[in-house]
Amino acid sequence: MKTVTLHDLSFRLRFSEEEIRRRVQEVAAAIRGDYETSRHVFVVILNGGMFFAVDLLRSVGVPCTVATLRTSSYGAGTTSSGVVEFIGAIPDVGGRDVIIVEDIVDTGTTVHLVREALLRQQPRSIAVAAVVDKPGSHAHDVTVDYRCFRAESEFLVGYGLDYAGLGRELTDIFERIPEKTADQP
Ligand code: IMP
Ligand code: MG
Repeated sequence: MKTVTLHDLSFRLRFSEEEIRRRVQEVAAAIRGDYETSRHVFVVILNGGMFFAVDLLRSVGVPCTVATLRTSSYGAGTTSSGVVEFIGAIPDVGGRDVIIVEDIVDTGTTVHLVREALLRQQPRSIAVAAVVDKPGSHAHDVTVDYRCFRAESEFLVGYGLDYAGLGRELTDIFERIPEKTADQP
């Protein structure tokens, strides 16, 4: 089994690079169908969303604008801190069709707050695209319009997702191996 160790935790393969590539292309095709003009702007949530964003925007293949927004919420742990900080300016999206690009929607706090902040600038529309959606963990009324995968509450790394700063560059997505089976062969 393909596994990886980051800091003190071990992870096993969950979504392969090939599955990710296929789903990103499918999501890109859906976005291409929904946004006919070049008026849309992708607002990429850094750092996690940048890996997905590069593949997604290239695959959508329609002229578009890209903006970034930096948030920090997880810190060094594996559960959402519930406190989301914006670092830097909120991009100007007035009158635009916005697609927020996020790595994962867990409690939904980040996407909820990013949406609120962007809505103040009166965009024409706002949608959300994420690699992984954990609908069972949502604590806010958030909708992930374009998602590649859904997961339960397991902690994931790879393809932008990190554990305490490590693992974003992995081309597959891995899930944490539960403690009780971590030591077994
Ligand atoms: P939320 O605000 O609870 O929806 O969490 C959003 C942020 O927490 C994401 O942008 C990730 O940075 C981080 N996060 C949530 N779940 C995971 C996970 O399973 N692995 C790595 N990071 C995660
Ligand atoms: Mg993130």
